[in-house]
Amino acid sequence: MQLRTLILAAGRGTRMRSSLPKVLQPLAGRPLLEHVIDVAEDLEPIGVHVVYGFGGDHVMKAMEHRKVEWHEQADQLGTGHAVNQAMGAVHDDDVVLVLYGDVPLIQEETLQQLVHLAGESALALLTVKLNNPYGYGRIVRDARGHVLSIVEEKDTSEEQRDINEVNTGVLACKGGLLRRWINALENNNSQGEYYLTDVVALAVAANVPVHAFVTANAEEAFGINDKKHLAEAEAMYRKRVTDQLLIQGVTLVDPLRVDVRGDLACGQDVYIDTNVTFIGKVKLGDGVHVGPNCVIRDTQIEDGTVIHPNCVIEEAHFGPRCQIGPFARVRPQTYLGSQVKLGNFVEVKKSNIAKGSKVSHLSYVGDTTMGEGCNLGAGTITCNYDGVNKHKTKINAGVFVGSGTQLVAPVEVGEGAFIGAGSVITKDAPAGKLSIGRGRQVTIEDWKKPQKNK
Ligand code: UD1
Ligand code: MG
Repeated sequence: MQLRTLILAAGRGTRMRSSLPKVLQPLAGRPLLEHVIDVAEDLEPIGVHVVYGFGGDHVMKAMEHRKVEWHEQADQLGTGHAVNQAMGAVHDDDVVLVLYGDVPLIQEETLQQLVHLAGESALALLTVKLNNPYGYGRIVRDARGHVLSIVEEKDTSEEQRDINEVNTGVLACKGGLLRRWINALENNNSQGEYYLTDVVALAVAANVPVHAFVTANAEEAFGINDKKHLAEAEAMYRKRVTDQLLIQGVTLVDPLRVDVRGDLACGQDVYIDTNVTFIGKVKLGDGVHVGPNCVIRDTQIEDGTVIHPNCVIEEAHFGPRCQIGPFARVRPQTYLGSQVKLGNFVEVKKSNIAKGSKVSHLSYVGDTTMGEGCNLGAGTITCNYDGVNKHKTKINAGVFVGSGTQLVAPVEVGEGAFIGAGSVITKDAPAGKLSIGRGRQVTIEDWKKPQKNK
């Protein structure tokens, strides 16, 4: 059996009231459509097809790193019409699985069951029972429980409105069958659209078995049409992720106040305080402690390192048992050895800092390599930019830099050197010596305090 997945993503998403196409609205930091492409790919189909339309250029650009085939739906004439735009790429013998770009929490296992249920000759539908079915297409069954049709919210009779089994939008069947029904769709309904959902009645009329698979997990079927839905989906997604972390043994002080927008891998005894956001690929070693209000993106943190409150950390690698923050800003390409300390109001960018070195207060370290056991005093600044180019600073092992020093790059401070406080170092400072680069202090003996003019 050859499987093709077909994702509908052409709709405007009017109810979002946004200039951003609906399928690009972010869920856990990534476009809705990308979540659906992920699950579609997990099924290992021979092709993932996406029907695009509203904001199409924008949608394709946002997904250009994904391997999908694009099909344009120039006018959004309904979900059935959308499917038709991709039918040229579908062979009669393929099994087609239709997914909606606005139903992002759907799970692989469920889809596999659905494809299995469709088999060679049936139409398989994914349905769900909801306490509040408002807005969804209703599954109409006969007295014996056989599915007869799907009726859209706007086309329901008063009786049908009470049906609480709804269409998730996901269906699967052979390409040949789908083609026949799609070609027969009509748009004589309240919205004047070609509804994909009408294939159900066509299948029934053609005596093709319709199998509805009722999923017990309502959130999988959650369709996102407005910002309220989007926020609800975010909460569902968060719970999914935090449940997993808790089961793994991670301490989350409050699972409602942790966001994982990407992949978070944790060792044993990791502790995560409130209001922490992880973005991209983040790896935390054993015993890592993350204080409140931190944002950590694409970073690896080794065993026993403590991130104090209010740190922003991007594309960094910290060795074991470092102490970071509070209020540290760590920018891309920062590599710290073990037991490094970055204190409050310290910014580090594109730098290597070796074992045991300390930058404790109010400093900027950029384009720098620092050896082991250095101590930078409060307010040390590497002047790495001359207004045109960036230059490097090298600080060798065991250096002590007095407070308020500016190291004007390119410059090197030799091993074990001391720099006097308040220095502006423009020349290399030799190893093992004290260098001072500041005006000498003088006292004006005959100075008189100025008097106010009469
Ligand atoms: C649809 C279903 C409804 C189901 C619900 C589940 C139809 C007619 N209705 O309603 O039975 O309960 O989803 O969430 O299918 N799209 C296109 N081209 C179009 C129209 C829509 O690509 O011309 C895409 C949208 O981008 C979206 C998906 O199809 O990803 C569903 O469209 P939407 O307008 O959200 O349909 P619903 O009203 O939610
Ligand atoms: Mg929808």
